[in-house]
Amino acid sequence: MGYCSSIRKISRKSKYVILLILVLSLLAWIAIFSRDMVKPIYPTTQQTHVKEESQRKEVDLQIEAANEINTPPQKTKCPQVSPLLLGAVKLSFESSLKLKDVEKDNEEVNEGEYKPSDCTARQSVAILIPHRNRERHLLYLLHHLHPFLQRQQLHYAIYVIQQAGDVTFNRAKLLNIGYLEALKDYNWDCFIFHDVDLVPENDHNLYVCDTQPKHLVVGRNATGYRLRYKGYFGGVTALSRDQFFKVNGFSNAYWGWGGEDDDLRIRVELQKMKIVRPPKNVARYTMVFHKRDSGNEVNRDRMRLLGRTPQSWRKDGLNSCSYKTLSVERMPLYVNVTVDIGKRLS
Ligand SMILES: *[C@@H]1O[C@H](CO)[C@@H](O)[C@H](O)[C@H]1NC(C)=O
Ligand SMILES: *[C@@H]1O[C@H](CO)[C@@H](O)[C@H](O)[C@H]1NC(C)=O
Repeated sequence: MGYCSSIRKISRKSKYVILLILVLSLLAWIAIFSRDMVKPIYPTTQQTHVKEESQRKEVDLQIEAANEINTPPQKTKCPQVSPLLLGAVKLSFESSLKLKDVEKDNEEVNEGEYKPSDCTARQSVAILIPHRNRERHLLYLLHHLHPFLQRQQLHYAIYVIQQAGDVTFNRAKLLNIGYLEALKDYNWDCFIFHDVDLVPENDHNLYVCDTQPKHLVVGRNATGYRLRYKGYFGGVTALSRDQFFKVNGFSNAYWGWGGEDDDLRIRVELQKMKIVRPPKNVARYTMVFHKRDSGNEVNRDRMRLLGRTPQSWRKDGLNSCSYKTLSVERMPLYVNVTVDIGKRLS
């Protein structure tokens, strides 16, 4: 019995001890918790000082870091010859290709524009593509052209100039408009006037401007890779901002297929400029097959027009190009400028 009662006494005592510990730790916890809650709201002046000081330092450091991100160290010029060039590549034209796929492959392109991240491009180039009802060709071209231009380490943007309505097509006028509209975005050094159905096969064919107007299509698979005729200046050409301005751009008078490229050659020659071409082993294109579009019939008036170019070029061109911009849609891979260009007066 004596043994049992002593145990009972001890356990009663330990109950009080445990209760006491519980109460004390509750008090301690309340004290700590309330200090944490209250301190920021009613800080002592001493603490405020120290705290503000360290906060300000922290903010200063953050601003400094942000500035470093916004003004990266001066990039060096991209090399004269890009190390990314591959030469002749095998082109594919998969009927299953979707715009979404091409967008995914080119996530660094923003509203049709790209610039290399690790060096400063040597030229800023606007690619102008006249367009109507050729979505499939445009898709193939975008698919190949974006990586091609990126391998050339260019700062570039692609503009699609869409002729609204279904009156006769006017490639040259659309290209004049592309030049005028693109210059509203950026002071491009160089313009590439590019047919939608021609895909370059070799990335040594550089999409940059020269001291003279440049013709980039020496050969295409459709003509056995030979120049179509001596003096041919169609398909894809590169003129600097100043060269194109000097010739007053293209004539606006060529409706339908043909003649406008020969007209531009005459303008270039009248300015005593000389057309240059890359070597024929690199200036090669694949022409994606199509039948002649309705609304782009052969222009039967072209020979007569060519005859009067020496008299008319000064007042027919960039300075007389009238049009109405219907929309400018900034898509991921190109800028879509849709225009009403009127129709042939006759
Ligand atoms: C040129 O190549 C394209 C693409 O492979 C093809 O669609 C076209 O028919 C070819 N043209 C000629 C004349 O071989
Ligand atoms: C360009 O925009 C016009 C007007 O929205 C549209 O009809 C046309 O399909 C567009 N073209 C391309 C190639 O996105």
